Amino acid sequence: MFRALLLEKTDGKVTANLRQLDDSALPDFPVTAKVSYSTLNYKDGLAIADKGKIVREFPLIPGIDWAGTVETSDDDRFKAGDRVILTGWGVGEQFHGGMAERARAKAEWLIKMPPGMDKKWAMSMGTAGLTAMLAVHALEANGLKKDREVLVTGAAGGVGSVAVAILAKLGHKVVAATGRLELESYLKALGAASVMDRAELAKPAKPLEGERWAGVIDTVGGPALANALASMAYRAPVAACGLAGSHDLPTTVMPFILRGVKLIGIDSVRCPIPERDAAWRKLAALLPDGLPVGGTKIVGLSDVPALAEQIVAGQIQGRIVIDVSQA
Ligand SMILES: NC(=O)c1ccc[n+]([C@@H]2O[C@H](COP(=O)([O-])OP(=O)(O)OC[C@H]3O[C@@H](n4cnc5c(N)ncnc54)[C@H](OP(=O)(O)O)[C@@H]3O)[C@@H](O)[C@H]2O)c1
Repeated sequence: MFRALLLEKTDGKVTANLRQLDDSALPDFPVTAKVSYSTLNYKDGLAIADKGKIVREFPLIPGIDWAGTVETSDDDRFKAGDRVILTGWGVGEQFHGGMAERARAKAEWLIKMPPGMDKKWAMSMGTAGLTAMLAVHALEANGLKKDREVLVTGAAGGVGSVAVAILAKLGHKVVAATGRLELESYLKALGAASVMDRAELAKPAKPLEGERWAGVIDTVGGPALANALASMAYRAPVAACGLAGSHDLPTTVMPFILRGVKLIGIDSVRCPIPERDAAWRKLAALLPDGLPVGGTKIVGLSDVPALAEQIVAGQIQGRIVIDVSQA
């Protein structure tokens, strides 16, 4: 038996309940692991708060990521004692996820943790950290320069916080756009050179404005992304990661055909393993101590439902790590 947070649907209403489950509740995948930590991501918030149709079949254990230790494996690629990370691949959406003491997975979904990497650290990054690192790699592969500022939107959230920290570590001058100006000292501790009120990016975007940004990591979508595109430097890259504000993109073709702006989509869910491996190693090298004070909070499984509402409302600062051994 193992403890899990279980999403259940009764009379059309989804609730998240702590349950004791039998191993037979887990899918028939070859690798069984003891989960140590999961995290709360925006998508988990949507799933638990029953918004955005993330989960279609119930009951389901949420948690789109987890770090743990292999207990048994019918696949030669893993053996008992291996420490592994899983993010994405539909886990916590179609398949039981990480908010439980035990999980079962396909071998091809798992990343073997490099020696020295700590499970709690890995989940202090989690899907958000991986996504931020993939976004930075995408900007670098598309000609990111250091001659101008780099914008990060949704900067005080999970992806945003890690993106600010990575870019600052790499020597970029980062502008952190946030709706929570009271978090300026947190954002500066992450490494932001300056903080921008996200209201400046909420106005309807003009087709083009002055060339301000050397690169952008956008977690918000909508007018924020459209305004960012209008202010890109010539041939500068933009990584679109999220939709915390909107899934719309009210822009024109002008940034693309007159400035050669490059808009790159970031997907962490089906990203190939070699790219993930490279991203995890780079993250560990750049942010070995994780986020600064205030960037990571450790909670138990029973704290998750209330926090899920908060993350969907944009009220979470940095990352929430779930210690699944805590009820
Ligand atoms: N592409 C991928 O593979 C991938 C992976 C992970 C996440 N994502 C997406 O990336 C986004 C961020 O995820 P996360 O886990 O970092 O979530 P998060 O921790 O909740 O961060 C989102 C941030 O966006 C800002 N925000 C929230 N509501 C907003 C609104 N209405 N208008 C403008 N800004 C708003 C807030 O930052 P401030 O308070 O600083 O303004 C909030 O903290 C989500 O859309 C998520 O689905 C995508």
